[in-house]
Amino acid sequence: MSGAGLEGVVAAQSGISTIIDAELTYRGINIDELAEHSNFEEVIYLLWYGKLPRREELEELKEKLAANASIPSEVVTLMKNSPRNVHPMALLRTAISALALYDDEAQDMSEAANLRKAIRLVAKTPTLVAAWENIRNGREPVAPREGYTTAQNFLYMLTGKEPDKIAVEALDKALVLHADHELNASTFAARVTVATLSDIYSGVVSAMGALKGPLHGGANEQVMAMLEEIGSVDKVESYIQDKLNKKEKIMGFGHRVYKNGDPRAKHLRKMSEQLTKITGEEKWYQMSVKIDEIVVSQKGLLPNVDFYSASVYHSLGIPRDLFTPIFAISRMSGWTAHILEQYENNRLIRPRAEYTGPQHVAYVPIESR
Ligand code: COA
Repeated sequence: MSGAGLEGVVAAQSGISTIIDAELTYRGINIDELAEHSNFEEVIYLLWYGKLPRREELEELKEKLAANASIPSEVVTLMKNSPRNVHPMALLRTAISALALYDDEAQDMSEAANLRKAIRLVAKTPTLVAAWENIRNGREPVAPREGYTTAQNFLYMLTGKEPDKIAVEALDKALVLHADHELNASTFAARVTVATLSDIYSGVVSAMGALKGPLHGGANEQVMAMLEEIGSVDKVESYIQDKLNKKEKIMGFGHRVYKNGDPRAKHLRKMSEQLTKITGEEKWYQMSVKIDEIVVSQKGLLPNVDFYSASVYHSLGIPRDLFTPIFAISRMSGWTAHILEQYENNRLIRPRAEYTGPQHVAYVPIESR
């Protein structure tokens, strides 16, 4: 069928991020530079306002994020009343939707209100994820701290202990690398939803649903599941060979747009090497490298952003099923930037389908069927 998966279709105009010649840029700045020199808060500003913040602009954004990081007690109660064994992405999708119920501006479609809601969403998502980790383990949620960066606050709220500097820097870099990615499936879902002039919460809830799937954000969790199942470097070859023989997909490889490699993967690979050395669990990195070599040589497929992020998050002590919620913490910045851009110049997104069903079928009354 033509157009399967909308491959190669240009479905929107956007000035936020793009992929040209296997380079990813946010507002024209190469992510390699951002990963090395910037930080997540700067990137949020860049995505929303189209330029890097001056010092005072960055401080103002950080203050607004801190002022909006706490979550309504009703949403905490909702989480406490939720089954403990649900997938955190299902819980987070629900909790983000519930935030709208306690936002007086939920239906205000003015530009200023939408920007305020974007700030609230980006500020509250890490608090929700950390709160769920505590609640499902029978602990009280840890309140966010003012003056902390997103990465520092999230790691702090997760355990109630001060995170070390290396962990904060690593998570911050991962957040920078995941923040936006042109018309990926979840961002497209968000734009489709708000193009009906539905509200920003509905847009990000649609995005959450799309991100959850294993072909998109859910892949990082699947990668860790695979590494744990394999267990040791010597078992990699037979495990991967068996999967390839059965024509099963290896999670964390391949990409719709990048056919010569995902520019984000090299940063995560380096971080994986460094962090696994520090934790003394180098086997996760060594196994990952071995899988990488086999899949590249046998299938010509290269690792994507999700592959090495698995061992990075694991090294930070983050439970496997929180990997995709961390992706959401970061991508919330990109989703909201795209939603604001969609509102600026909106047209309903309503494509056509190539019809393959029967035609000219007569209606048969129920007694004659
Ligand atoms: N492992 C093994 N084979 C893979 C593969 C993988 N991870 N990804 C793609 N392939 C194969 C497909 O089976 C297909 O082979 P075929 O032509 O013999 O049928 C070919 O490569 C093209 O793949 P296709 O699934 O059509 O590409 P796509 O553009 O539709 O899908 C992804 C892109 C990302 C969904 C796909 O590569 C994938 O499923 N990867 C694993 C999930 C993942 O890591 N997702 C995160 C993306 S950031």
